[in-house]
Amino acid sequence: MTNRKFTLWRHARLATLAPPSGWGLIEDGALLTEGDRIAWLGPDAQLPVDLAGHEMQEHDLQGALLTPGLIDAHTHLVYGGDRAAEFELRLQGATYEEIARAGGGIRSTVAATRAASDEALFALAVPRARALMAEGVTTLEIKSGYGLDESTEARCLAVARRLGLELPLTVRTTSLGAHALPTEFAGRADDYIEAVCAWLPGQHAAGLVDAVDVFCDTIGFTLAQTRRVFDAARALGLPVKLHAEQLSNQEGAALAAQYQALSCDHLEHLSSAGIAAMRQTGTVAMLLPGAYYFLRETKLPPVAALREAGVPIAIATDHNPGSSPALSLLLMLNMACTLFRLTPEEAWRGVTLNAARALGLGDRGTLAVGQRADLAVWDAEHPREMAYRFGHNPCRRVVCSGIERLA
Ligand code: NIG
Ligand code: FE
Repeated sequence: MTNRKFTLWRHARLATLAPPSGWGLIEDGALLTEGDRIAWLGPDAQLPVDLAGHEMQEHDLQGALLTPGLIDAHTHLVYGGDRAAEFELRLQGATYEEIARAGGGIRSTVAATRAASDEALFALAVPRARALMAEGVTTLEIKSGYGLDESTEARCLAVARRLGLELPLTVRTTSLGAHALPTEFAGRADDYIEAVCAWLPGQHAAGLVDAVDVFCDTIGFTLAQTRRVFDAARALGLPVKLHAEQLSNQEGAALAAQYQALSCDHLEHLSSAGIAAMRQTGTVAMLLPGAYYFLRETKLPPVAALREAGVPIAIATDHNPGSSPALSLLLMLNMACTLFRLTPEEAWRGVTLNAARALGLGDRGTLAVGQRADLAVWDAEHPREMAYRFGHNPCRRVVCSGIERLA
């Protein structure tokens, strides 16, 4: 018999968050991992007896809370510069859209990103990723979209990939060339979209893309342009997502659902037709309370209708320098509850199981046998405490793919 290696986490309060609902609490629980997978979990008193003879590392968690690792499934983490001056302008009355139309906004970050070396972009992104990881994040999505030319878009995606290789977490990359119109294409949005579609096969061949996204809005791209990018993604077999109905209703969500989008994101202006379409395809509604808060939006996403329709809801930081310079997924849990009226359990599901779904990942987001051993240990009695407190990080230990890392 081969000698198998296990790690046993004992005397924890487990919150499995297993579907379909409920916290899935197991008092005085134990969880066994083998390699990068969860091999067993249940009450400590029912530990399997046939483990004798195997190599076993054992940890007594002394009643601490053990949950799935968190998943931040919508970020724009790789960029140069910052937009603190733009924040001041907005405080003086300028709107996000006015600044964007005047050539600021996303395009000012594009200039700073193009000017930065790969090494500089990586060095800027590492502490951002580490800040998220310190709160138990074990999977992180990163979009491009601040390069807006073939080489800088590819560089940003490569920096995102490198983060996943050099830091102990999973990084999923999303190509968002259709984020804004670069100045060199002013007045030629269709030509720019043609260029974006033409880059995709190269990005895909280089292994840089897990999904494709578009910003569909009055200051972004039209439905017809979105469709062209989605067709290019589909031709490569890549899943799509959409920044949809953030500042206005373009019926982007319904279009995205036609392409079996993994998620539609923002959604403050989502219509009932959009909800019905997302429901049909199981597309995740990715709500981004950081952007809602920071842009001082007043139109709430239709949470009650999404809930009633059974559309899975996810929550993310949307970390970016313009609309959500947030580096705390725990703060988003609180804001999802206070601003959007999610229940703490819905908010937790939004940063675990439904966030995994928004990335097309079926192997994480709950504690269950066979799932990836991505775990977080908390100095808390109940997961609702993390939705309740804000500005507080009770994360004590993190396990990623079966290996403990410094939290
Ligand atoms: O998700 N909505 C568009 N994109 C980003 C903001 C980008 C920026 O302002 O730099 C978002 O909010
Ligand atoms: Fe975004």
